[in-house]
Amino acid sequence: MGFPNDLLCLILDLLTEDKAALSRCCLVNWEFNHAASRILYAQVVLHIRPSAIAFAPSSTHPPPRSRQERFCDALLASASLPHNAPHVKILRIKGYPDSLSEMLLPAVKTFRNLQAVEITPDTNGDELFTPILAELENRPSLADLHVNSACMDETNSEILVKIGGLHRLRLERPNRTILKLLSDWLQQLPALKELHLTRDCGSITPGVLRSLAPLLANVSAFSFGLSYSITDDDLFDFLSQLPCLERVQLRHYLQWKVSKPDNPMKRLRSLTVCHDSSDEDEFVDKLCAWVLRAISSSPIEQIRFCCDEFPTDSQAPRGFDALIDHLSRSNSETLRVLDLNGWLISASSVSLLFGTCVGLEEFVTALDAEGFLKFKGILPTMKRLHTAVVQVCHDDDAPFSVSAEDAAQILQSSDSLRRLAVNHWRIEGSWVSQEDGVRFMVRHSSEDPSEETPEIPVQPQSRRAPRAPAMNVILEEKEE
Ligand SMILES: *[C@@H]1O[C@H](CO)[C@@H](O)[C@H](O)[C@H]1NC(C)=O
Ligand SMILES: *[C@@H]1O[C@H](CO)[C@@H](O)[C@H](O)[C@H]1NC(C)=O
Repeated sequence: MGFPNDLLCLILDLLTEDKAALSRCCLVNWEFNHAASRILYAQVVLHIRPSAIAFAPSSTHPPPRSRQERFCDALLASASLPHNAPHVKILRIKGYPDSLSEMLLPAVKTFRNLQAVEITPDTNGDELFTPILAELENRPSLADLHVNSACMDETNSEILVKIGGLHRLRLERPNRTILKLLSDWLQQLPALKELHLTRDCGSITPGVLRSLAPLLANVSAFSFGLSYSITDDDLFDFLSQLPCLERVQLRHYLQWKVSKPDNPMKRLRSLTVCHDSSDEDEFVDKLCAWVLRAISSSPIEQIRFCCDEFPTDSQAPRGFDALIDHLSRSNSETLRVLDLNGWLISASSVSLLFGTCVGLEEFVTALDAEGFLKFKGILPTMKRLHTAVVQVCHDDDAPFSVSAEDAAQILQSSDSLRRLAVNHWRIEGSWVSQEDGVRFMVRHSSEDPSEETPEIPVQPQSRRAPRAPAMNVILEEKEE
């Protein structure tokens, strides 16, 4: 008798990320093969990087296929076999797909159950995508579409806007050609729940934004990239007109105009802010005031900042203490995730935050040495906090150092914390089942390769966890 199929599917689901293990499962027997193929082919990602493109030594011969190209050829060929094609739910085309042109369209024709398609190549191989977009027009299963400017020339835009039934639409660098058609398209998408206009949104003027608002009455998630012609007043005015809005991702840029009071976003639960880096007090104060404006009367649960660079000395601006003050007064019941990225807050803000927002589950911030002491001291009182990332800023005359043992001890001082990062140390704890019972194990790694990785003394009765298997094994990266 075979292994119960329901159980098999549940077990294999745990291996979703481990493509190598799944492909080995395909070889066990037909039952395993069927269950593992379902997961293995659910997502087809074609990503040919520029370094992997083979150039012909002379124009008379076709260039030899590079390893990545051969991988993509093989993937398309096996994914479009009759017993695999129905499993393909997600298709992503990225990088430099031109050399796949012959196989792509026939394969897409076989993927009858596509739910999500991403076409974001780094080339403008526009004609390559014209028949593919046309092929996607009558797909009742397709709910999620993500495209960039490769699908935004005159011809492709006309075809693109015939794709209906979408729940989620992401346009990267939307230009005037597609924006002219967007209003009409949105009217054909009554089920749309998410609209993301990302990266360079310079073609979006206040007029365009105003025209979109009435069409987005049902949208619960919205993203907006950078457009210097949109003022804060334009943006917040627009956002306040979307009655169902719960999640936004916005790009902040510094403006000097004094703003008018708003109609707030009353249902906003999640805010992600991308911004420039700066070590000026004035910039930080204005950014913080902008965030306060966005969340002024929202039941906010999650706030994240994204930016690549932050000042790293303990004299860095502390404008974000004002945000903590607001959250502790207005959002202590709802706040779950506060990711300040590299922004510095003071020791007293740490006490205030932990004392009031007791439901906090994830916390990312920068602290000075005093703030870090405070954090360590009151961490055990946080009953829901499972993830903490702390960058400790210091001055040259009082350097700060933390060892892997210190970080492991901090992790173990809390009952709920599972992941902790302090400067370059990353520590992760988990319950591991072994022959003689279940134990709490601590694993650690350093971002700094020169750092020796010492043994961490964990709870006396448990041994060090074995090295975790790499969870992101990608078949094409495997050595031949
Ligand atoms: C929009 O982008 C496409 C592809 O890059 C281009 O062909 C088209 O001319 C652009 N439209 C405008 C108005 O710039
Ligand atoms: C919002 O959803 C309702 C019900 O699903 C639908 O009738 C209406 O047309 C939608 N409104 C917009 C602006 O898409």
